[in-house]
Order: sequence, then C-alpha cells, then structure tokens
Amino acid sequence: MGNLCLKNVVVTIVIVLIHLQLVASTWWFISQLPLHAVGAGVLCDNVPGLVGRQRRMCRIHQEAMVILGQGALQGVHECQHQFRQHRWNCSTLDRDTSVFGKVLLKVGTREAAFVYSISSAGVAYSITRACSLGHLSTCACDPNRKGRGRDKQGNPFQWGGCSDDVNYGQKFAKMFIDAKEKQHMDARALMNLHNNKAGRQAVQKQRKLECKCHGISGSCAMRTCWRALRDFRRVGTFLKNRYNGAIQVMMNQNSADADLVVANRNHKKPTKYDLVYFDASPDYCNEDLELGSPGTAGRECNASSIDTDGCDIMCCGRGYHTHTEKRVDKCECKFHWCCDVVCKNCTRTVDVHTCLGERTQRKYKWGH
Ligand SMILES: *[C@@H]1O[C@H](CO)[C@@H](O)[C@H](O)[C@H]1NC(C)=O
Ligand SMILES: *[C@@H]1O[C@H](CO)[C@@H](O)[C@H](O)[C@H]1NC(C)=O
Ligand SMILES: *[C@@H]1O[C@H](CO)[C@@H](O)[C@H](O)[C@H]1NC(C)=O
Repeated sequence: MGNLCLKNVVVTIVIVLIHLQLVASTWWFISQLPLHAVGAGVLCDNVPGLVGRQRRMCRIHQEAMVILGQGALQGVHECQHQFRQHRWNCSTLDRDTSVFGKVLLKVGTREAAFVYSISSAGVAYSITRACSLGHLSTCACDPNRKGRGRDKQGNPFQWGGCSDDVNYGQKFAKMFIDAKEKQHMDARALMNLHNNKAGRQAVQKQRKLECKCHGISGSCAMRTCWRALRDFRRVGTFLKNRYNGAIQVMMNQNSADADLVVANRNHKKPTKYDLVYFDASPDYCNEDLELGSPGTAGRECNASSIDTDGCDIMCCGRGYHTHTEKRVDKCECKFHWCCDVVCKNCTRTVDVHTCLGERTQRKYKWGH
C-alpha cells in the first residue's frame, strides 16, 4: 500500500512539473530563435510549450514556420513601439521560454490581452504577405478576387493585380496559435481565443482598396483594383486603441456552455475587434522578472508631460534625476544639384530626466 501511495505521489509530481513547464512556455518563443534553426525542422520537437498539433504543423510547414517566427517577432517589435512610453514596455526576457515573463501567461491582464492579439496579428499579417510575394508554395494571391466588384462609393471596377489573401493568413494563424488553447478550455483559454481573434480581425480590417486607371491618357474609363494589407504599424495602433478601451469580462456562471460576459453590466459587450481581460494590472513600478517588469528605475521620462511618459507617472512618485547630455542632430540641410542633401551636425544640450530606483531614493533620504 505504502509503495502504491508513493508511486501516486511521484506520478502527481511529474504531472505537475510537466504542467508548470507548459504553463511557463509558449509558441512565442519561436520569435526568439534564429531563423535558420526554425527552418531546419529539428526544432519542432524541441521548442518547449508547443502542443501536439503545433508540432505536427511545424514539421509539415517548415517554410511557413520561418515566416511565423518573423511574424511573431514583428509583433514583439510593434508591442515595444506601442508601449515605449509606458511603465510596462513589452521587454522580453533573455532565453526565457515564457518570453514576456511567466505572470503574463498566468494572469489575464490587459497587457496579456495585447500581447496575444499583436502576436496573432503578426503571424496572420506575415503569412498573408508571404503568400502574395510567392514565398510559400501553399498559397498565393487571393483566388476569389475575380470579375467585377464595387467600391464603397458604389463605383464599379474590375478585380486585378494581386489581392492579399488575408483569409489564408488568418486561417493559418488560427490553426497554429489557437491549438494551444483548445487543449485545455478553461476561462483563460476563452480570453486568449478572443484576443487572438481580435488580432486577426485587426489585420483584415486594416486593408485598403488600391486601384489603377486604364483608358485613353489616364481617363480612368476602366479601373482594376486589388485589396492590399496596409502598414503593420496601423494594425499596432488599432490594437493599442483597443488596449486602452479593453473590456473586463468574467466567466458566465449561469450558462451551460462556457462563455465570457462583461464584468460590469453598464459596460458595452465586446465585439470581435475588442480586447478582453480578467484581472487588474499590477503597477509595474519595481523590477519583477516573473511579472515581465524590469521596473522603471533608470527609465527616461518627460518632465513636462502629464501622460504615461511623464516623470510623475513613469517614476511612480520616487522622483527623478536630471543631467545634461549633448545630442547630435542633422540640421541646416541643403539640397545640392543634383542629387544630394548635405546637412550640418548640430549639437544640442538637452536635459535628460531618468527615474530614480527604490534604493537610490532610500540612499538619498538616509544618506544625510
Ligand atoms: C524597458 O525598460 C527597461 C528598464 O527600464 C530597459 O532596460 C529596456 O531596454 C526597455 N525595453 C525596451 C524594449 O524598450
Ligand atoms: C514632453 O512632453 C511635452 C508635452 O506633452 C511634449 O510637447 C514634448 O515634445 C515632450 N518632449 C519629449 C522630449 O518627448
Ligand atoms: C556628422 O556626423 C557624422 C557621424 O557622426 C559624420 O559621419 C559626418 O561626417 C558629420 N558631418 C559633418 C558635416 O561634419
């Protein structure tokens, strides 16, 4: 009996360890790996945190995996751009398979919502673009954009050129990324699925119709048009606005099917474009790597701004340090015929403000 009991304990411990390992890693890690390694296939079995279906897709679609990794990295860079003036600045941890810190995977904050959506958008975007560029053998331009169409004003045109096949990119991203959540359908999985979808939708929404005129001396008697992705920056800005207006949700206790409902009945129901979250965010003031928070000590802040980059907010009331720095800019640029622009180097002296850390502050207080 004792032996059996011990065996159960050991099995339980092993299961818990495997679960912890899975909880603490994610497919985002592909974005942190060198591309030649991603393309080599051998990696599929070694990236921690991939679920069965992801491993299979990884082995079958090796060329697409390289694109997927690039797309995820594009998501990371866009996240860092959008949050450059926030306390939480979307920094990644070196060689950590959770990429942004373990807490982001466990606690359903707005920041988590943003990271899921921008990563999913990055993959949908880059796969779609790769299709149009002919970089993937399984897809190309959108085959359904044929014959006649009408623009928003109701003016007719002929589909032509290469419309980006955003459907393919979305499907690929959904199949790969959502596979992880479908393994274990709990409340957090529902949140992630919603935000993954919001990311894919953002890519689809940020497209535009591009047209070319044909006819005698550009009379535009006939137009051919195609639907094209726009700059990824637009997708990032769109999702950042959704982050600002993210909607807090909770599990619906009364329903037989698991679903999410708004936490505050006075708030609007989320649409497929909105980001949803469960938990209030920590303040991200101090260093906590589990939290993916480098803390704001040493961060540059703006003494005259009342926004998140202002010294009051950025430094969490700890105060800041000011020093002057010489910065070199291009100035007095002149156009020289032909075709050169020659500039002078101007040196400006600027005041640079940086946040004090907890300890610096204490030392400062107690040092005298
Ligand atoms: C975020 O802030 C930390 C510390 O304040 C800094 O070391 C890091 O480089 C920043 N990350 C990015 C991506 O800007
Ligand atoms: C600081 O903030 C002010 C007010 O928002 C803005 O006008 C100024 O350009 C900012 N300075 C820098 C260096 O970003
Ligand atoms: C300005 O600075 C750059 C790099 O610091 C240098 O390469 C360039 O020659 C400088 N231009 C002038 C006009 O001094």
